Amino acid sequence: MKKEELVDLLQEMTIEEKIGQLVQVTGEVFLMDNIDTTTGPLKDLNLSNKTLYQVGSILNIVGSEKIRKVQDEYLSKSRLKIPLLFMADIINGYRTVFPIPLAQGCSWDPNVVYHCTKVSIKEAGSAGASVNFSPMVDLVRDSRWGRVMESIGGEDPYLGQVFAKTMIQAYQGEDISKLGNVAACVKHFAAYGAVEGGRDYNTVDMSEREFRQYYLPAYKSAIENGAEMIMTSFNTINGVPASVNQWLLREVLRKELGFKGIVISDYSAIEETIAHGVSKDKKQAAYRAIMAGVDIDMMSNVYANHLKELIDEGKVPEEILNQSVMRVLILKNKLGLFENPYGNIDEEREKRILKSEENLQEARKQTAETLVLLKNEKEVLPLKKNQKIALIGPYGDNIAILGSWSIFSDKSKIQTLKEVFEKRMGTKNVLYAKGSEILREKEINQILSADGGNIIHVENEEEKENEYLQQAIEIAKQADTIVLAIGEHYRQSGEACSRANIEISEIQKRLLNELAKQNKKIVTVLFNGRPLVLKDISEKTDALLEVWFPGTEGANAIADVIFGEVNPSGKLTMSFPQATGQCPIYYNHYQTGRPHISNIRFASRYQDIPTQSFYPFGYGLSYSKFEYFDLKISSPKITENSFITVSIKVKNNSNRGGKEVVQLYIQDLVASSVRPVKELKGFKKEYFEAYEEKTITFEITVDMLKFWSEKLQYQAEKGEFKIFIGPNAEEGEETIFELV
Ligand code: NOJ
Repeated sequence: MKKEELVDLLQEMTIEEKIGQLVQVTGEVFLMDNIDTTTGPLKDLNLSNKTLYQVGSILNIVGSEKIRKVQDEYLSKSRLKIPLLFMADIINGYRTVFPIPLAQGCSWDPNVVYHCTKVSIKEAGSAGASVNFSPMVDLVRDSRWGRVMESIGGEDPYLGQVFAKTMIQAYQGEDISKLGNVAACVKHFAAYGAVEGGRDYNTVDMSEREFRQYYLPAYKSAIENGAEMIMTSFNTINGVPASVNQWLLREVLRKELGFKGIVISDYSAIEETIAHGVSKDKKQAAYRAIMAGVDIDMMSNVYANHLKELIDEGKVPEEILNQSVMRVLILKNKLGLFENPYGNIDEEREKRILKSEENLQEARKQTAETLVLLKNEKEVLPLKKNQKIALIGPYGDNIAILGSWSIFSDKSKIQTLKEVFEKRMGTKNVLYAKGSEILREKEINQILSADGGNIIHVENEEEKENEYLQQAIEIAKQADTIVLAIGEHYRQSGEACSRANIEISEIQKRLLNELAKQNKKIVTVLFNGRPLVLKDISEKTDALLEVWFPGTEGANAIADVIFGEVNPSGKLTMSFPQATGQCPIYYNHYQTGRPHISNIRFASRYQDIPTQSFYPFGYGLSYSKFEYFDLKISSPKITENSFITVSIKVKNNSNRGGKEVVQLYIQDLVASSVRPVKELKGFKKEYFEAYEEKTITFEITVDMLKFWSEKLQYQAEKGEFKIFIGPNAEEGEETIFELV
């Protein structure tokens, strides 16, 4: 459609029809035999059947057949026949599931993130999704928060920017209407990752400097790269919930960042401003949200039931409504839905794509890049295939390895570690025992009871626990090496999965402690969605492989690394704490007046744990051995319009080819406002042949030195800067240069 035709269409619409475009509901209702909004999924929304045929978009209905059915039903009764827009949460995969976003980021490789994203969306796109609620670019520092698993950039704003760009490009391509592309919805705007105490949905209160310096850059990058939509976050920002925050949405998002696309609220977030105590009722919530600039109301009924009244009373100018509606029409038009309301769906192609062996191969390859080797004492890994192993642990023969965003997954495709190990080593060489549950009954029920039922009961729990343990000890005795697969329950990370204690459960620790007494080598494979406290685990194991929730091809990818077919190259994007009480912990923290440099009393430190993290940001081992030396800088001075280069030699001092992520950090030594101890400013992931030495070079520009000054101006200040280049945030070579 031409722009003028959209304007004509808008003019033809009644106020109710316009408001409808700003309402999003789940689509199950259209699939019911007797369509009725007074029962079923939409009961609480108080929508009339008439309003239902005016809504603009649908949440989480995917699949060609379903989409065709819903769209047909809707269009058959809608007056103006404006097609529905289908939006969904394809977070780390549709049928084929890739590693959780936090893991994908640990590849430190935009190519890996691109391919995971592209295949996921090719599958979901073929099944009719037009808008995807991803990427999640919230900066995260506190692993008590269950949603750190969704963060693509972890604790670093630079990584957040790089991967935001990659993901937007993968989703949208050059033209979102083309096969294999969808519109991206960046979330959650803004600073959701900073919820106090790591408790989900909690308050965020932060200085503007902090917000701009750390949190805003990744959203900004997504917008600059053309993201079509943005989702508001559940939290307050400095006293005002994001979904009604005029400063955030009108000043920062629209004016400053120039965002032209659609703003959608998170699920019922507008209505929740009543619980926040900033709206006295639904009508006021609707007023505040639309005036703040939220275009679409996801799953609360406040726009559907109150906007009309607000417009009739003259409180909300119709022009504001028109602007929002126009944005929705523009996106529908860009997606080509007016010409073809079914988008790219094609049942035949869908079947073909979703069955594709190619997607599984791609998943296996990319997943191996996201695993992080945290420990490898005496080079226990890689294992040989002709040895006898005892595979023990609740993740040894378990398919619940997709993470919590796997609502559309095809579970029949998942293989377990046991199956894969047996295929590779022969059944004789793999002894298996479950060893323990992930959680004891009481712990799992604490989680499940909040789901409203379905709690479990284990007969003779203690006896069973001891039995499992004995079986594990028995097989451990017969093997050369123990592979112990333990971790978090998949229901322990994700939305509403905050934890006040981020250790491995007692029951699994008990298992490890008992196995450690057998004097065998132990390789621990860790499944989890967040950095955990690993001190106890690490001390008792010889090798530790962080595999996160690795997705459909997880077991194969893990075996590829364990048997050395793939040399691990992932590095952490979040610091692992020494103890839960150390959260939030992040490498790029500000300098204090009393840094903990040596063992003195009046320093900024904890008495009972070291000050640094247990595993630092950027850390991860390889089967190769990389050495860094000979850091050189092209000039010790940089001026406003020049750049300098800094280079370092990196040598793979081993007989194995492998990849290394060379990391560049900068510290501003003296500035008008306090600066972080270091900030990531660049990285290069390179392959090195055995014994190969390469010179890795980075360009330093003045832009990389800019920050939010004392007067909140974004600028670089003259003076000295330190450069660090190394394998992680705590090791490497350093030198100094000056901005003159
Ligand atoms: C709530 C979550 O916060 C958000 O990330 C998700 O996209 C929406 N629900 C829709 O499912």
